[in-house]
Order: sequence, then C-alpha cells, then structure tokens
Amino acid sequence: MTQPDVVISMKNLVKRFGDQTVLDGVNLEVKRGETVVIMGGSGCGKSTTLRHMVGSLIPDEGSVEVLGKDLATLTEDELNEVRKKFGILFQSGALFNSMTVAENVGLILEEHTDLDASIIDMMVKIKLELVDLREAAEKYPAQISGGMKKRAGLARALALDPEILFYDEPSAGLDPVTSAAIDQLIIDLTTRLGVASVVVTHEMDSAFTIADRMVMLHHGHVLMNAPRAEFEELRDWPAERMSELDEMQLLIRQFLRGDPEGPMTEHGEGGENAYAIDLLGIDNSKLTGGRSVQSTRAAGGSGFWRGLLRGSREKGGT
Ligand SMILES: Nc1ncnc2c1ncn2[C@@H]1O[C@H](COP(=O)(O)OP(=O)(O)O)[C@@H](O)[C@H]1O
Ligand SMILES: [Mg+2]
Repeated sequence: MTQPDVVISMKNLVKRFGDQTVLDGVNLEVKRGETVVIMGGSGCGKSTTLRHMVGSLIPDEGSVEVLGKDLATLTEDELNEVRKKFGILFQSGALFNSMTVAENVGLILEEHTDLDASIIDMMVKIKLELVDLREAAEKYPAQISGGMKKRAGLARALALDPEILFYDEPSAGLDPVTSAAIDQLIIDLTTRLGVASVVVTHEMDSAFTIADRMVMLHHGHVLMNAPRAEFEELRDWPAERMSELDEMQLLIRQFLRGDPEGPMTEHGEGGENAYAIDLLGIDNSKLTGGRSVQSTRAAGGSGFWRGLLRGSREKGGT
C-alpha cells in the first residue's frame, strides 16, 4: 500500500521500444502538493516517464500507481475516470485552431460534466482569470502569442479542478521573459490550488525555479532524486573541492551547470561528442574548437565511465 499523501508511485518501471530499453527500472514518488521536476538530456526518457504517469503507455515491467490505482489494471472507462483528475499541458498547448480560447477551455467542461452552459461560461472565466488571460477569451489561437497559448493550454488543463498537473517542457519555444512568467504561474498555481505537479524539462533555470524536488534521469535510470537544495549544493560546489565528489556527482554537477568540461566529455575520441550534445544539449567541438577536452579526472577515465558511455551507445540511445 502506498501512503495516502503519495499521489504517484512508480515502481521499478521498465519500458522497451523494440530492442531499445528506454526506462530501465525507474522508481519515483510524487506527494500531494509538491512540484517534482524530471530532468535530463534529450532522449533520456522524460516524456516516456510522463506518458506512463498519465496511462498512455503501459509498462513492460513494474507498475505505476496514480491516486491509489494501478493504471495497467484499469479498463478504458476506469482510466478515463482517473484522468479527469489530471491536468495535462502539452508541449504545443495543443489548442483547437477553429475555436476561441474560451471555447477551447469550455469544450473540456462540456465533454466531461453535465453543467449548464451559463455555469460553464462562468467557470471558463474563472480558469482564464487564474492564468491572467481573460482579455483574450474571444481570440483564436492564431491571434495570440506563444506564451498566451501556453496560458490557454494551462487554463484548459485546470478546467476540471485537477489533483495532479503534468507539464511536458512548459517553456519550450518561449523567450526567456515569457518562460520565466510561465514558471511563476506554475509556482502560483501549485501554491494556490495545492495540486501536485510533475514537470518535465531540460531547462535548468526553470527547473531550479519551480522544483520542490528534482529527479535526474539518465538513459532510463534515476541518477539522483533529492530536494532542490541538494541539487543546488551540487551545482554550486566549488571547483577547488571537486576531488570530494564521486563520479556520479561530477556528472550531475556538469549537467546542472551546462559545463562543456567534465567527466562526460573527458574522452578525446569523436564519438563522445555526440554524447555531450545528447546530454548537455551543447556541441562540445564547437565550444572548444575541436580539441579534446580537459578532464577533471585523470585522462582515460574510469571503467565506470567507459562502461556507461559504451553501454549507452550500444543500446542505440539517441
Ligand atoms: N513511441 C515510441 N516508439 C519508439 N521509440 C520511442 C517512442 N517514444 C520514445 N521513443 C524513444 O525513447 C527514447 C526516449 O524518448 P523520450 O522519453 O521522448 O525522451 P525525452 O523526453 O527525455 O527527450 C528516445 O530514444 C525515443 O526515440
Ligand atoms: Mg520529451
């Protein structure tokens, strides 16, 4: 049995696509009222993790319990009942272009409740007010900015008073100012509505702004799952005390800082550069003019790193 304040409990989750093992034994819990940020490089399995939480993927091994229900055991109808308690903000906002902002939000209420049109109108106004978008109610998606589309998507995600909010890359494609405003909105909503939020992002500024707890995924494994303060400590760890960190901590520190130099980029052979691009989102050869990168550890690295790097390539991780 899970604790009553645990809203999501993922146990030993394994997911394969063909012969690629994308999630390889993921354990994580989300508690009521907390914001958990799942981060990691592109292709490490963040969205796949989220899709299991909303029941759109079924695990190959392990289980996902959400609001006390093991999703894999539910019928389609039962799953839809649980999903009414979710708010999901898709990457694009995913609005219907032929409908106004208000109609987009109202549609969810029409589909899932028996409320009168006048009540629905009122609820739509309340949701739009929550995301500071009332003045755009009658606009069509093509007439509003990217940030406003995100807000509209968020108003729609809030339509049914969810217990859990899921966000996949909420600030993707937004300029830094708009992106910071969305971060602030996520914090406000979490505080005001007391919902649990699960946010997938590879943007560190955003992650450190909104997270209560952070989970770092790396090729299908949880490398670290800890309160934000512990990640901050690692990010800000002084360079002259690097020898006190183990290799896992060095990797995480490098990722959090977006440093081009560190254990994951220590090998000179071309192949690892692809790996740096993957995990850090940077092209190391461009930053360093193609020279092999200095290591914080002795050149050649340890068996641990060689094994990890080689293993990830053999699995065909993108
Ligand atoms: N439906 C799918 N079929 C096959 N491969 C998939 C599918 N979804 C994701 N993948 C693969 O799984 C890996 C992880 O994907 P994803 O979870 O989307 O990564 P992230 O969100 O961390 O960038 C990638 O290599 C991706 O190509
Ligand atoms: Mg993704």
